[in-house]
Amino acid sequence: MTQNKSGKTVILTGAGISAESGLQTFRDANGLWEGHRPEEVATPEAFASNPDMVHRFYNARRQKLAEVKPNAAHQALVDLENYLGDDFLLITQNVDDLHERAGIQRVMHLHGELLKKRCSWCNQVDRCDSDLSVSDVCPVCDRPEGMRPHIVWFGEMPFRMEEIINAIKEADQFWAIGTSGQVYPAAGFVEIAKSAGASTVEMNLEAASNSSLFDESIIGPATETLPPFVGALIAS
Ligand code: OAD
Repeated sequence: MTQNKSGKTVILTGAGISAESGLQTFRDANGLWEGHRPEEVATPEAFASNPDMVHRFYNARRQKLAEVKPNAAHQALVDLENYLGDDFLLITQNVDDLHERAGIQRVMHLHGELLKKRCSWCNQVDRCDSDLSVSDVCPVCDRPEGMRPHIVWFGEMPFRMEEIINAIKEADQFWAIGTSGQVYPAAGFVEIAKSAGASTVEMNLEAASNSSLFDESIIGPATETLPPFVGALIAS
């Protein structure tokens, strides 16, 4: 039995929720990803053939985190979590830490985290606050050349899929915020939620590729659309 009028609420966020904090989205007007084609940097093949370039790219993105801070949309989700408690779950495709810095507790990073590193040899995951390079040695297995960002690259399996799918199947509400609906499996979550009977809402600057699958589309900057939407829900 649910403890609130909204029921279980699962939120999916993408790059758009961090855009107003100053982090660039992936699919901007020229189709490039911070000046690179995604397949140049975000694949296991790129890391195997040019690890220095891949490290440079992610090091720059990690450094950028120090220049940005959470915005009103991140904060609105914290307010929602405080209201819903265990009936709230955030699934983010974002590799930044802005949800956590805003104060979110119940979050799963589907595509990994910039502030973590992993050893390709022994799979040990550790906190990563500084630049990575090919000469780094794994603190656990001592092998060189294997430390990589703890990020899901194209062709790799996103994290925690089973838990995520189970949570979506139990959701009464499913919201997708700041995500273009172009990258699977996340783009397919709305169909799973709908099939299980959830109400679905998208909030984007422009309608997502999978917009027709949502019951409601709210178009506009997340810092302007999300706080009043959450406020109305909490007040209702
Ligand atoms: P995209 O760059 O594909 O889409 C960004 C979405 O945010 C678009 O739908 C915009 O309309 C919306 N948007 C932009 N600014 C906004 C704002 N101020 N308020 C609300 N919405 C806004 O980013 P994602 O959908 O997150 O994967 O991309 C999905 C995945 O593709 C990423 O996680 C990444 C990338 O390849 C990996 O790295 C594995």
